[in-house]
Amino acid sequence: MSISVGLIGLGTIGMGVAKIFTRDNEILFAHLGEKLQLKKIADINLENAKHLNLPSEILTQNAEDILNDPEIQIVIELIGGYEPAKSFLLKAIAEGKHIVTANKALLAQHGEEIFQAAADKEVDIGFEASVGGGIPIIRALKEGLAANSLKSIYGIINGTANYILTEMEKKKSPFEQVLQQAQAHGFAEADPTYDIKGIDTAHKLAILISLAFGTRITLEQIYTEGIDRISPLDLQFSRELGYKIKLLALAKDVNDEIEARVHPTMISKDYLLATVDGAYNAIYVIGNRVGSTMFYGMGAGEEPTASAVVSDVIDIARNIQKNITRRITPTSFCRQKEKKIKDINQIVSSYYLRFSALDKPSVLSNISGILGEHNISLASVIQKGRQIGGSVPIVMMTHEALEQDIKHALDKINTLSFVTEKPHLIRVAELD
Ligand code: HSE
Repeated sequence: MSISVGLIGLGTIGMGVAKIFTRDNEILFAHLGEKLQLKKIADINLENAKHLNLPSEILTQNAEDILNDPEIQIVIELIGGYEPAKSFLLKAIAEGKHIVTANKALLAQHGEEIFQAAADKEVDIGFEASVGGGIPIIRALKEGLAANSLKSIYGIINGTANYILTEMEKKKSPFEQVLQQAQAHGFAEADPTYDIKGIDTAHKLAILISLAFGTRITLEQIYTEGIDRISPLDLQFSRELGYKIKLLALAKDVNDEIEARVHPTMISKDYLLATVDGAYNAIYVIGNRVGSTMFYGMGAGEEPTASAVVSDVIDIARNIQKNITRRITPTSFCRQKEKKIKDINQIVSSYYLRFSALDKPSVLSNISGILGEHNISLASVIQKGRQIGGSVPIVMMTHEALEQDIKHALDKINTLSFVTEKPHLIRVAELD
């Protein structure tokens, strides 16, 4: 007896999955007590397959060969993007096949439709690899933390962005060079602007929020800001002030209203999350009973992500062995309940503000005066260097303030004649 699997997409992760199936067969058999057979692999471009030493009858350029094969019970989709991935998944479901996908963009945008189709056909859907690469965060939320009401999630969930920030800080390397290295490692998305602009992080946060808080959320409701305005100067000031800058995904339940945002964030260097460097990911989850937990591991790359994909296949195969489906439904942590998503202008945070201004009398008093007029109180001020006739950086750390007030104040400060560059803002977070 064996359980047949079809794989659509032989890119970086697809190769990792194919290698596990071909090289780790004994381990899979030991875990399942049954053979998992990778029956077919489909990709328009089968160039990568040359490295796998597979019999040619396994390979096809037509995904329909998998979708129409009645013996294949589990279909893995690893082509990414919206189409044709969505049509393939819906067709597989319609054929009564269980599905496994790592496609965070698709789930963030069309998850509801796909989950509903899977529910109607009573098939399983695994998406462990969609968030945090090899870290079993989806399973942790659905199963391990099921006794909790979750308060907050703070995630470093884009390996590329974390790698870039880490290298920029450690080696003072320029942004472009570090990005190229990340692409060479295979972490970055096909379009790396998704990584840099925070869009990939927002996709993953949407999935985490629907699981953790049981509410639907659209991408438009997640405030999203990337790392492209972070300069080596910010990383240097941040270190001096005792902070690290991380591209953080934040979600908090504040009196049944959800704060959902993705942006560069300053966190105290004393937090464990601040030590997560390079392509590593970590998700810090606070539950009402368990307290603080942190899930850490490789958030991107061929083998870690393939590890998560194959774990879903094993999970579904175990259900098949017991002749059951959907023992744990995709969003089983919470029954769906609509919750209000908080507008970014209404959040309260502390802020790091960096101004570039001409070095002359009353600059500081003008800037701090405008901040004061907008109810913003300062915790500290740093001005470095002396540049008569030139610009100097001025850094101000604020106490907690309303985002809307900060924005109004910065708009006004930006109009001052001695301010030579659009002010920089980084939100500071306490992980509570
Ligand atoms: N581009 C993503 C990252 C891949 O860098 O984390 C994993 O989703």
